[in-house]
Amino acid sequence: MTNAPQRAIGIDIGGTGMKAGIVDLLEGTLLSERVRIPTPKGATPPDVLSTAKQLVGLLGPDAEDLPIGVCFPAVVKNGVTLSAANISDEWIGLDADGRFGEALGRDIRFVNDADAAGLAELKFGAARDQPGFTIMTTLGTGIGSAFLFDGKLVPNSELGHLEHKGESIERWASAVARERDDISWSKWAKRLQHFYDRVEALFSPDLIVVGGGVSKNPEKFLPMIETRAPIVTAVHRNNAGIIGAASLILS
Ligand code: BGC
Repeated sequence: MTNAPQRAIGIDIGGTGMKAGIVDLLEGTLLSERVRIPTPKGATPPDVLSTAKQLVGLLGPDAEDLPIGVCFPAVVKNGVTLSAANISDEWIGLDADGRFGEALGRDIRFVNDADAAGLAELKFGAARDQPGFTIMTTLGTGIGSAFLFDGKLVPNSELGHLEHKGESIERWASAVARERDDISWSKWAKRLQHFYDRVEALFSPDLIVVGGGVSKNPEKFLPMIETRAPIVTAVHRNNAGIIGAASLILS
């Protein structure tokens, strides 16, 4: 028997919603309902903290004292949030692990959202037992990425910020850019092709995993994308952030 925790709470902080659940860390499955509260407007740290408290409360007595992994759309290093694309600037330089840990009275670990999704795929999904180098990409409001090498996460890769015409490429190639520009799936697939071509030229991955909300409908764009490495959809979609963030507690 090991003393490692077998359950943890995962909280996924997104642009529109904050979601949480209790995760079985051995199976990578949810043991509770998934609870959700809209992300407070402006997403400042104090507002996000009070919403996180409410979410934990909604999970009920089973959630008491469980450690928490939180995933978040920013660079996170040693528990400090270091960037703020699409969220409040107040997160830049914030000791998120310390501040949330103290307020919630338990162990808290923050992780980048795409890294959390990558961890979920690495432990319980498309990248499990995959030798070599896997790149997970999440297509949503931005483009997130996770580098997974020989069973380990190399955090904070931020491929959505590769430069394209003077801007971050995610501004042009994310799933939200497709909706904003009201373009067809095939036009969007051309933009994605450009993104994956750059990624392959720079990093030569052995496998590419595609996650994010749009991976629910891969037939609309994935067959139009050609890559050297196999490209597959993520196994965990809606719950990837929650499961991956919670599983961080074991690392
Ligand atoms: C952020 C990343 C995040 C991605 C997906 C980007 O704008 O810089 O940290 O992983 O969006 O949410």
